[in-house]
Amino acid sequence: MPRSGPAPLQGSGPAPGRQSGAAPGPGSGPAPGRESDTAPGLGSGPAPDPESAGPRSDIADPGLAEAGDARIDWARCAMPVLGLVAERFAAEQPLRGLTVAACLHVTAESAVLIRALRDGGARVLLAASNPLSTQDDTAAALAQAGSGISVFARAGVDRETYYAHIRRAVEPGPDLVIDDGGDLVNTLHQDCPGLLATVRGGCESTTSGVIRLRQMAAAGALAFPVVAVNDTAAKRMVDNGCGTGQSVIDGILRATNTLLAGKTVVVAGFGACGQGIASRARGLGAQVIVTEIDPVRALDAVLQGFRVLPMLAAAPLGEIFVTATGSRDVITGEHMAVMRDGAMLANAGHFDVEVDVRALDRLAIGVHPEVRPHAGEYVLADGRRLLLLAEGRVVNLVAAEGHPAAVMDVSFGLQALALAWLAAAPGPLADRVHEVPGSIDAEVARLKLASLGAQIDTLTADQREYLASWRQGS
Ligand SMILES: NC(=O)c1ccc[n+]([C@@H]2O[C@H](COP(=O)([O-])OP(=O)(O)OC[C@H]3O[C@@H](n4cnc5c(N)ncnc54)[C@H](O)[C@@H]3O)[C@@H](O)[C@H]2O)c1
Repeated sequence: MPRSGPAPLQGSGPAPGRQSGAAPGPGSGPAPGRESDTAPGLGSGPAPDPESAGPRSDIADPGLAEAGDARIDWARCAMPVLGLVAERFAAEQPLRGLTVAACLHVTAESAVLIRALRDGGARVLLAASNPLSTQDDTAAALAQAGSGISVFARAGVDRETYYAHIRRAVEPGPDLVIDDGGDLVNTLHQDCPGLLATVRGGCESTTSGVIRLRQMAAAGALAFPVVAVNDTAAKRMVDNGCGTGQSVIDGILRATNTLLAGKTVVVAGFGACGQGIASRARGLGAQVIVTEIDPVRALDAVLQGFRVLPMLAAAPLGEIFVTATGSRDVITGEHMAVMRDGAMLANAGHFDVEVDVRALDRLAIGVHPEVRPHAGEYVLADGRRLLLLAEGRVVNLVAAEGHPAAVMDVSFGLQALALAWLAAAPGPLADRVHEVPGSIDAEVARLKLASLGAQIDTLTADQREYLASWRQGS
C-alpha cells in the first residue's frame, strides 16, 4: 500500500564544507549483559535531553563507554563525508521528532552514523546485525545516559537474544528503519505486524538484504517502501568492491597469517565483492580462480585474466576458498571431499550459508575449534585437514574489523542522506524497493572526492548542448 512520506527536510542539496555481514547463528552463548541507562558523560552531539532518552539499553558493560568513545573518535576522523552530513543534520534537523530503528553491525563506524541521525533530530534505537561483530565498548559509548540512543547489542549473544534485541529496537514503533541484511524488516513483518502501519520507509545496506526485500515486494508482503542503498554505484564500488576486497583479505590474514603470494585462491562469485577480493588477492601474488553461474560475469572474469572453472574442478586446486555469492551451499561436502590437505575456507557473503558447515562437520572425524583465533581445523578420515575461518560467517567482520572507516564514510553518507530523503518525500511512495536518487549518489561521491583532494572537470556550455542535442553530429 502506498503511504504518504511527509516530514520537512531540505532534500539532498550540497552540504557546507568538509560500511555487510552474516546471519546470526548461534554464537558462543549469551554474554553476561547489563541493563544500562546510566553512564558517565556523553559522546559528541547535542546536550543531553533526559526526555529524549529511549528505553533502557541492553549492553555488556556500561563501564566500557570511555574506550568506545575513543574508538568512535578514531573512526570519525576518517569519515569526513559523514561529518559534513552530521553538521548539516544538526542545522536542518531533517529527522526531528522521528523514531529510527536500526539493525547494523555495532562498530565505531556505525556509531558515527547513529550519532549523525541523532544530531538530525531522531530518537535512535540500535540492534546488532551480527552478534560476532558487536564491539561492546562502542555499544556502551552509544548507550550513555541522555544520549537519545538505545542500544541492544552484546557480543556473542545466541540467536534467541539476537532476535529479542531486534524486537526491542522496534518496540516503540519506528517511523523509519535502517537494515543490514533484512532481519529487522523481517522481524517487523513477522513478529510485530501491528507496528507496520506507522513505518514510513527504510533503507537496506547490503546485497542479500535487497534480494530478500525484492522477494517480499514481489510476493506483495512488503508493507512499506525501502530504499536500496546497497545498489548505488558509489556504494557498490567503494564498499562492496574496495572495502570487501581489502577487509576480506585482512580477515584471512589475521586468522591464518598465511602468505598469499604463490597460493591458489578460489573466489566464488564475481559480483562487486568477488571482483574486489579477486583483484586484491591477485595483487598480493596469488593465482586466482573464479567460479560463477552468470555467463556475463564469468566472461568479465575471463577477460580480466582470471581462470574460470566450475567449483568441482576448482576444488582440488584451491588452497584458499572465499565465497561471495549471496547464495547457499556454494561449497558443499562434494567439494570438500576433493580438496587439498590444509585448504582454507572463508565466507564473505552476508549469511553463513555459503559454506556447508554441516557437511564439514559430518565429514570430519576430529575438530579443533580454534587452532588459531577464528580458525577451526577439521580432520577428515583420510587424514586431510580443512581449515574453516570465522565459523563460515562473514570473515572480514568476524576475524578482522570490517571495512575501514574511510569506506563506511561513503556507505553511511549515502545511508543518512537516503533516510533524510525518505523522511522528506513529498508524496506517497509505493511499498517496493526504490533506487536512491542519482543526485545523492553523485553528491556523496563529490564530497568524498573533495575530502581526498581530488578535483574533476565540469561540462562546458558547448559540451552540455552537444550532449543534449540529437541534431549535432560529428
Ligand atoms: N563481507 C562484506 O563486508 C560484504 C559487503 C558487501 C556485501 N556483502 C555480501 O556479499 C555477498 C555478495 O555481494 P555482491 O554485492 O558481490 O553481490 P552480486 O550480486 O554483485 O554478486 C554475486 C555474484 O555471485 C554469483 N553467484 C551466485 N550464485 C553463485 C554460485 N553458486 N556460484 C558462483 N557464483 C555465484 C552471481 O552470479 C553474482 O555474479 C552478498 O551476500 C552481500 O550481502 C558482504
